[in-house]
Amino acid sequence: MVSRELAIDLGTSNTRVFERRSRSLFAERSVLALDKGTGAVLATGGDAWRMIGSTPDNVAVVRPLCSGAISDYDTTAKLLELVIARAGAGRWSRPHMVITVPSAGTAVERHAVQQASLAAGARSCRLISKPLAAGLGAGLPIYEPVGSLVIDLGGGTCEISLMSLGGMVNNTTLRIGGFDLDASIQRYVRDEYSLEIGERTAEAVKITVGSAWPLPEREKAEVTGQDFSSGSPKSIIVTSGEIREAMSEQLQAIVLATIACIGTSPPELVQDVMRRGITLTGGGSLLAGLDVLLAEETDVPVHLSDRPFDSVVLGAGRALVEKDGLASLILDLEP
Ligand SMILES: Nc1ncnc2c1ncn2[C@@H]1O[C@H](COP(=O)(O)OP(=O)(O)OP(=O)(O)O)[C@@H](O)[C@H]1O
Ligand SMILES: [Mg+2]
Repeated sequence: MVSRELAIDLGTSNTRVFERRSRSLFAERSVLALDKGTGAVLATGGDAWRMIGSTPDNVAVVRPLCSGAISDYDTTAKLLELVIARAGAGRWSRPHMVITVPSAGTAVERHAVQQASLAAGARSCRLISKPLAAGLGAGLPIYEPVGSLVIDLGGGTCEISLMSLGGMVNNTTLRIGGFDLDASIQRYVRDEYSLEIGERTAEAVKITVGSAWPLPEREKAEVTGQDFSSGSPKSIIVTSGEIREAMSEQLQAIVLATIACIGTSPPELVQDVMRRGITLTGGGSLLAGLDVLLAEETDVPVHLSDRPFDSVVLGAGRALVEKDGLASLILDLEP
């Protein structure tokens, strides 16, 4: 039997899988629901995600990854087991895998990802760094002698990377992602309106009225939560301006890190970036007006990638398919 080959983008919010033979793609939320007493897995992926904020006392909803890195080895292996099974592989048809790791990860973290993959049933597991996969998946000429600048804003991280000739020339990883924006919105609503809202509500507010730049069509939204003092349900109206204010510190940190990355990169490659623009990817790149904010503050054109959620896994998929040609992208684990 021919072994399956899978490319997996292990993300803080979503785990995405590309199966080589069928060229199919699917995603699972990177979430598990566990029985607090026994540790048994009660639900995984989307089923577990829907339990956030409404779990009984004996159930814990956990994310195996925090800021892009494995925070819990066993739950990561369980999540990988789930996606391997969903891809039609398993203990009797163990897949060869390429899996993504954050570029700033330590050797210990990389080793943990590889071991979790093998424990989940992989026959072999090679690693690829997320920015290189993102550049490849977004169709950038990362192998050519030109500079490509990619900003990948995910759920738990923001990776800003300048690449050329198949390697990383400059990289900054911020532990800021969509979850942190959601948490800022939760904090803002608590401080300003004494209203407690859940993380899924905060995310919905970010997606519907949130913006990084003043945009005319983003006005206001009604938000329902729990009054901090009385505990009773309460609704308020928030404007997109307020939500932008709530997220401003993190957005500013992303802008400053981008400017710093450009400022510390080789001038010829910076020229390429000025000419060709910055590519913005990851789910967080869908935040309305983020491209405008970055373009205004850096004076460099900014393009949104066509498939913000999938560019990393598609790039890892290419490394899987074009094994020999892209061998230099695969990370070697230090002994
Ligand atoms: N329309 C939108 N506007 C703003 N943010 C969005 C939108 N759609 C999704 N997001 C955010 O994108 C984030 C998830 O993106 P993505 O799936 O790329 O993350 P990830 O790859 O799992 O995380 P990481 O790469 O940091 O480990 C979430 O925080 C989500 O709220
Ligand atoms: Mg990601």
